[in-house]
Amino acid sequence: MTPPPWVFIDLLTQYVGQTVELRGWLYTRRSSGGIHFLLVRDGTGVVQAVINAKEVDAATFDRADHLPQESSLILTGAVRSDKRAPGGVEVTVRALVVLQEADPYPITPKEHGVEFLMDHRHLWLRSPRQHAIMRVRAEVIRAATAYLDAQGFLRVDAPILTPASVEGTTTLFETAYFDLGTAYLTQSGQLYNEAAAMAFGRVYCYGPTFRAEKSKTRRHLTEFWMLEPEVAYLDLDGYMDLAEGFVSAIVQDVLRNRERELALLERDLAPLRGVKPPFPRISYDEALEILKRAGKPMPWGEDFGGDEETVISSHFDRPVFVHHYPAACKAFYMQPDATRPAVVLAADLLAPEGYGEIIGGGQRIHDLALLEHRLAEYGLPRDIYRWYLDLRRYGAVPHSGFGIGIERTVAWICGLDHIREAIPFPRLINRLYP
Ligand code: 4AD
Ligand code: MG
Repeated sequence: MTPPPWVFIDLLTQYVGQTVELRGWLYTRRSSGGIHFLLVRDGTGVVQAVINAKEVDAATFDRADHLPQESSLILTGAVRSDKRAPGGVEVTVRALVVLQEADPYPITPKEHGVEFLMDHRHLWLRSPRQHAIMRVRAEVIRAATAYLDAQGFLRVDAPILTPASVEGTTTLFETAYFDLGTAYLTQSGQLYNEAAAMAFGRVYCYGPTFRAEKSKTRRHLTEFWMLEPEVAYLDLDGYMDLAEGFVSAIVQDVLRNRERELALLERDLAPLRGVKPPFPRISYDEALEILKRAGKPMPWGEDFGGDEETVISSHFDRPVFVHHYPAACKAFYMQPDATRPAVVLAADLLAPEGYGEIIGGGQRIHDLALLEHRLAEYGLPRDIYRWYLDLRRYGAVPHSGFGIGIERTVAWICGLDHIREAIPFPRLINRLYP
């Protein structure tokens, strides 16, 4: 006789009437009148396994009665259709093998503090809420890359160990690098992306990025994942057109494919449904006006903090672009406006509902002399950027791109209070464990 097939719980409905093998962990159990009801999870879902004293041997029945939460087990049983069951099916157990009887599980149904849960992040990931968030995260990444792939972008990844900064020298993580001195963990793949865009026209990179951010806020990680498209011959408006189509596609894909997860997170779907082009576009100067009218004036020339972003975005029902920032509050590579050089062709995208900046980007300087001038102004060593300057020597063209922070996007779409839940193992100024 062939052994029963190993089946994942999310596919059980295709096996009604058959005997299957499930491999998973015990989620919860209860007993009543000579029957044990085990809720078993395998990562794809949860199913109720019914153990009837009359259908299994006494040892198995007894074992199931004492099994602690999260014990690992393999069970064999018949799949029955049951309208009242969560996934529409139930399994009647014939045999049960316990691989490991778990120690008392630290995460119980009672409320735990955030620090306790963060210390047990390696176990917390097993809970339904974290499952929902990680599934949304995976869908955000899938949807984002699928959108760009379908438009003919080429994925060209950037290095993580680099000799120079992209986004200012104050947030660099350093590491010793053999005889070559100091290497830095990348803050953004952008500079290498620009080389790739000159090679392939339309590219994107995706990977972890690092910022030694001294900020302890609900929006800052020290390690986060960024997806960065870069396009030759694209200007500021073209970048905003690309980004609004991109963000809308991501949100609509999550709504379509992760409905169950958003429901579990009790996410209000109405604001997400409205995320469709066109997104409002306001200038930095107009944003300052909004702040002034809201009684939170800010001097011209400074970048917005989280509080300002929340006030600005609260005036709009979908993500809003803020463009034409003062040069002084942006990075060295930003292309100045031709008619007003004090501002640059940069635009940030602010998410609604107080989630702040999810995208930063803009048009890059393509003129060699101007870029050399800017490097000097920002006190950056010209020698390290030789290769980057070369891109302005061999077929320079206007070009633009942006970076979307995956965790900020996930926090917004899931409606999370804090970015720490949007990444499997968060790295924060005060957390490196687990
Ligand atoms: O605005 P940023 O710094 O832009 C860049 O790095 C550009 N070089 C990208 C490009 O044009 N290719 O970062 C981009 C996005 C932010 O909008 C935000 O979503 C996210 O990265 N981000 C962070 N996310 C979590 N924690 C942090 N400390 C973050 N810093 C930036
Ligand atoms: Mg930014």
